[in-house]
Amino acid sequence: MPGRLHRAVCPGSFDPVTHGHLDVIEKAAKLFDEVIVGVGVNQSKSRLFAPDERMDMLTRACAGWDNVRVDGFTGLLTDFCLQHDIDAIVKGLRAVSDFDYELQMAQMNSSLAPVETVFVPTSPEWSFVASSLVKEVATFGGDVTGLVPDFVRDLLVERLAERAGGQ
Ligand code: PNS
Repeated sequence: MPGRLHRAVCPGSFDPVTHGHLDVIEKAAKLFDEVIVGVGVNQSKSRLFAPDERMDMLTRACAGWDNVRVDGFTGLLTDFCLQHDIDAIVKGLRAVSDFDYELQMAQMNSSLAPVETVFVPTSPEWSFVASSLVKEVATFGGDVTGLVPDFVRDLLVERLAERAGGQ
């Protein structure tokens, strides 16, 4: 329908994907005809998982939603939006503390391209879940079951063991 938003991107680093991310992707899949999960692969932060590994995990985790696909992007998110005819960027808000930076990014992105950011509140059960914290807990032997899909937990434990063993 003209004037409506059809295709959205859920961007992120997803290192690794958590149930918090999947909650937002599921909400986006209900709101939009098509959702592309955009895995940012050019950030300077060191990553535990390579871009292909993060994309593979997302592809598996999103397999149940037939209007969701996974892609990687380098450079500006707005360039990716223009290249793929994306009308909206969907971002989850876990708490008010997320809002300041997300608003700044949304305003910057809409100054760069005709793309709107749509904020969706994360379900409260995931409000404390972040990839960085999941990795920290798992690094020190904590159980992250229930915070990430089981196959992601297993890959995380395996990768951390490899790192600890110096492999
Ligand atoms: O999961 P993250 O690390 O919060 O994801 C951040 C991401 C990838 C969404 C953000 O860093 C991004 O959009 N990077 C692409 C580069 C870009 O467009 N920068 C300008 C943002 S206003």
